[in-house]
Amino acid sequence: MLLVIEQIFDCNEVRVFREHLDSAQWQDGKLTAGTQAINIKRNQQLDGNSELTQTLGNEILKRLGQHPQFISAALADKIYPPKFNNYHDGGCYGTHVDSAVMTIPSSNELLRTDLSATLFFSEPDDYDGGVLTIETEFGAQEVKLNAGDMVLYPSSSLHQVTPVTKGQRVSAFFWIQSMVRDHSQRSMLYDFDQSIQQLTTKLGVDDPDVLRLSSIYHNLLRSWAL
Ligand code: NI
Repeated sequence: MLLVIEQIFDCNEVRVFREHLDSAQWQDGKLTAGTQAINIKRNQQLDGNSELTQTLGNEILKRLGQHPQFISAALADKIYPPKFNNYHDGGCYGTHVDSAVMTIPSSNELLRTDLSATLFFSEPDDYDGGVLTIETEFGAQEVKLNAGDMVLYPSSSLHQVTPVTKGQRVSAFFWIQSMVRDHSQRSMLYDFDQSIQQLTTKLGVDDPDVLRLSSIYHNLLRSWAL
């Protein structure tokens, strides 16, 4: 499942992020590239240990922690602290797959990457190219979202960012270990939950069938989680 969640941040909030990001010290993205990525990665990143990265990253995590659609779609167990990148002047990232297991910085804790996330901080009109292309079972999907919007996709997918030939593309990216490892189970739980939410709006939270469906949802989650 490839899922777009719109307006995680509104335009005023995006502006504040951009004020910080535009005056930040960017580093060569190759510094954090593994052997597979070093030849195909051409972008800039913020130092993951910098105070700015941590402050902005925490803002993102705080927002996502209160976002019903994200909570339902990701069923997050652990989230990698968000990082920030910047593509310009032909910057790109060739086709690759994200590492399956990562160490969470400043800890010995491992995270299995189930979902990859990109949160856009540039408007699509601000740059040419810079399309996130994700290979799915239904063919390649092209993603170029409004500032403040985010895409979630399975980390097992091959993906690339096409060259940015004009302007700059700034975004945050991170990974999620989900409580439900299997993509099709997680996807069914998400669809199920969305329908229950709709029915709750129509029938009320006390409707016996809504209650029964909610109980089935939770019991499925209980059998599939962790
Ligand atoms: Ni990637």
